[in-house]
Amino acid sequence: MHNQTLTITDNRTEKSYSLPIQDGTIRAMDLRQIKENADDFGLMTYDPAFMNTASCRSGITYIDGDKGILRYRGYPIEELAEKCTFLEVAYLILNGELPTAAQLKDWIQLVTYHTMIHETTKHFLEGFRYNAHPMGMLVSTVAALSTVYPEATNVLDPENRKLQIVRLIAKMPTIAAYTYRHSLGFPYIYPDNELGYTANFMNMLWKMAEPKYAANPVLARALDILFILHADHEQNCSTNAMRAVGSSQADPYLSTAAAAAALSGPLHGGANEQVLRMLDQIGSKDRIPEYIEHVKAGKVKLMGFGHRVYKNYDPRARIIKWTAEQVFQVTGRNPRLDMALELEKIALEDEYFVKRKLYPNVDFYSGIIYQAMGFDPKMFTVLFAIPRTVGWLSQWDELMRDAEQKIARPRQIFTGPAERHLPAGKTLGVAAVA
Ligand code: CMC
Repeated sequence: MHNQTLTITDNRTEKSYSLPIQDGTIRAMDLRQIKENADDFGLMTYDPAFMNTASCRSGITYIDGDKGILRYRGYPIEELAEKCTFLEVAYLILNGELPTAAQLKDWIQLVTYHTMIHETTKHFLEGFRYNAHPMGMLVSTVAALSTVYPEATNVLDPENRKLQIVRLIAKMPTIAAYTYRHSLGFPYIYPDNELGYTANFMNMLWKMAEPKYAANPVLARALDILFILHADHEQNCSTNAMRAVGSSQADPYLSTAAAAAALSGPLHGGANEQVLRMLDQIGSKDRIPEYIEHVKAGKVKLMGFGHRVYKNYDPRARIIKWTAEQVFQVTGRNPRLDMALELEKIALEDEYFVKRKLYPNVDFYSGIIYQAMGFDPKMFTVLFAIPRTVGWLSQWDELMRDAEQKIARPRQIFTGPAERHLPAGKTLGVAAVA
């Protein structure tokens, strides 16, 4: 093996330093010994938006962005999407291994047992304005769960963490469904414990006066696959928020609310809603070239395209395209799919996108499926948040078990004024500047 060190020469002092390289990284703290003089703070790295900084060690999700590879705990996403249920994958992500038959039975039972939310939480939801955005309701309600489970603050106790993790995974669909019913003015539907995770979610969304809701199995499976695809994606913006807030030892409900808030932005999970709005704005296939010109002129973004890590086709987008075909056999084809396909075709041949390696991401096609299933675009990001809760919580649990982690607290390069003083005559309540 080659010498796994990096030699740095500081031309200010002509001193040389040898830094160990481990796993393709150097430790930023090793740079602090590089000083111009004894009083110097030492060298730091400057990395806005974490373009080239690993913030943790993680054994959960592997992405090779150049090759378009995504694996949870070593298993390719394609195999998991084809052969596993969402709850099996959730177990895998959380525990590192797929469950045995007995473990799966217990796990399903455990999650099912915790699907109900406290009546006061239901009343809390009732207080939102009739047209409140479901993501705002979801974020606030998840944060409010912190008041229902005060023992959740005991984040250093692994057993306690396990209980809160199960609660959150179980209650997320219930809260999500309630935000949906609330926006329609429909009564909330209690969970039906005879149904599976996604079928029960559909029951809470769409049950009306019928005594028992029967989810269409093709649609329930499609939603299950979509949940698998969204379950984790290593250190994305919302997971980073989860870890940053969790590092202060805030309770998991508050940390998850912070993560969900980060997800809501249009550059992250909010993109799926924006894709639909963009397709509606374009309106018809013949207007696509004009829209592409606007994108290239920097006036708008092509929503659902581009990714910080993938510089190849997002493997999730490929599976979603396949799933869309299954869904459309039940719901009828969403005409927006043809527009999306055309947009993709034109974009993938255009030099602007080719040069920048911009490919469709997970959000490009998911909204088209959700809409065909009957969801309002406002619900799309909520649908992303439900499965991603599994990823957030596994990453949080990993953080809590990592002895190397501390409160997340970056440094800055100060660009403000040097020390200065108020005018001598400055008095309380009178402006300093005339
Ligand atoms: N449309 C047009 N140009 C784009 C796009 C896009 N969607 N994405 C990136 N670019 C351009 C960007 O303008 C830049 O060009 P230039 O080099 O000339 O300045 C170049 O490509 C590199 O982009 P970047 O902004 O430096 O890339 P980033 O890694 O900082 O941003 C991103 C990644 C996902 C925020 C961005 O691609 C984007 O805004 N995409 C649209 C929103 C979206 O679909 N988000 C969902 C992401 S995937 C799932 C998720 O996280 O929820």
